[in-house]
Amino acid sequence: MSGLPSVEPIPEGVVSLEDHERHATQRLDANALAYFCGGAADEITLRANRVAWDGIQLSSRVLRDLVGGHTRTALFGRTLAHPILLAPVAFQRMAHRDGEMATAYAASMQGAGLVLSSQASVLLEDVALAVLAERQRGPLWFQLYFQHDRGFTEELVRRAENAGYEALVVTIDASSSGVRDRERRAGFKLPSGISAVNLAGLPAAKPFMLEANQSRMFDALLKTAPTWKDIEWLRGITRLPIILKGIMHPADAQLAAHHGADGVIVSNHGGRTLDTLPATAAVLPRIRAAVGPQFPLLADGGIRRGTDVLKAIALGADAVLIGRPYIFGLANAGAMGVSHVVRLLRDELEIAMALCGCATLAEINSDALFS
Ligand code: FNR
Ligand code: LAC
Repeated sequence: MSGLPSVEPIPEGVVSLEDHERHATQRLDANALAYFCGGAADEITLRANRVAWDGIQLSSRVLRDLVGGHTRTALFGRTLAHPILLAPVAFQRMAHRDGEMATAYAASMQGAGLVLSSQASVLLEDVALAVLAERQRGPLWFQLYFQHDRGFTEELVRRAENAGYEALVVTIDASSSGVRDRERRAGFKLPSGISAVNLAGLPAAKPFMLEANQSRMFDALLKTAPTWKDIEWLRGITRLPIILKGIMHPADAQLAAHHGADGVIVSNHGGRTLDTLPATAAVLPRIRAAVGPQFPLLADGGIRRGTDVLKAIALGADAVLIGRPYIFGLANAGAMGVSHVVRLLRDELEIAMALCGCATLAEINSDALFS
């Protein structure tokens, strides 16, 4: 990587993801905090994600021989060292000057999959160049937001392909960014010098001339929002695996498979889009049941402990993503902080597996949950 990210110490006493969060909230300014921590409206879904994991109890099994156990798993033809990926989070230079470059470096050191946001604050080509050659790196995926200009959307896909990204994560739960009260109260603004650099060059949207009785949502914004037809269009123009992120309904998971998606991510966008959606932990088993045992299924939202990862796998996920926790690690100690967050979660997952009597992820099923 050109210009290795700075080596910064992990703050004393920070031994868990929640410690990272507490510490980061002391360091970040009010503007960044409103963006990174906030959820939609009353933040009921944001809280529900956490409450749901906490409310699931585990079931331990003892005296099994677990020698030779591991956390490896396979996804889209690749073996991952462990099932923890870094979710797409926009504008990471707001958390640390090294931004997504530090995150990518840490992910590759930890063998964690990385999903780079369409709204990253560094160039997608720079991230790929920095980590593609790292031998122990995890998968590198690009998160795609359909843009109002389909030509530009296709250009983004080509750039991701040419740079070496290995899958497209198409986020489909944010046709509107939601009611962001916390951001509005804080008067959130992107600091100068930080922007969605990969979207530079996006032609300006045609201004809509709305009549007095027309809706900005239905008669303007949604005119260019993607539909299932656009998923088919995308399927037709790329050979990369397509993973739909933001599925919360079993029927939509089935439609995803029907329209050519190769996998889905059960996600409520970390509680940032539609408030009062259920926790992802609550819908995950239904979605697994709807798509069958083989279809690649990931989940995110509120995962803060290795036990949460184990629970997600027991409920049917093949792998999980974390969002805010690694941003807090980034804010606290740059690449070292992100790396620390992933390491903590991996270690906790191994401890949870050992104490539940599971030697591999494949052995984790509903027997690991107390019911
Ligand atoms: C996000 N998320 C997100 N998702 C996406 O597809 N594209 C994006 O650009 C962003 N940006 C973004 C910014 C911030 C500040 C947050 C907190 C989240 C959603 C993200 O990928 C993921 O779904 C959630 O963050 C998972 O929940 P936790 O782990 O943050 O609780
Ligand atoms: C967000 C968008 C960028 O959650 O997905 O802020």
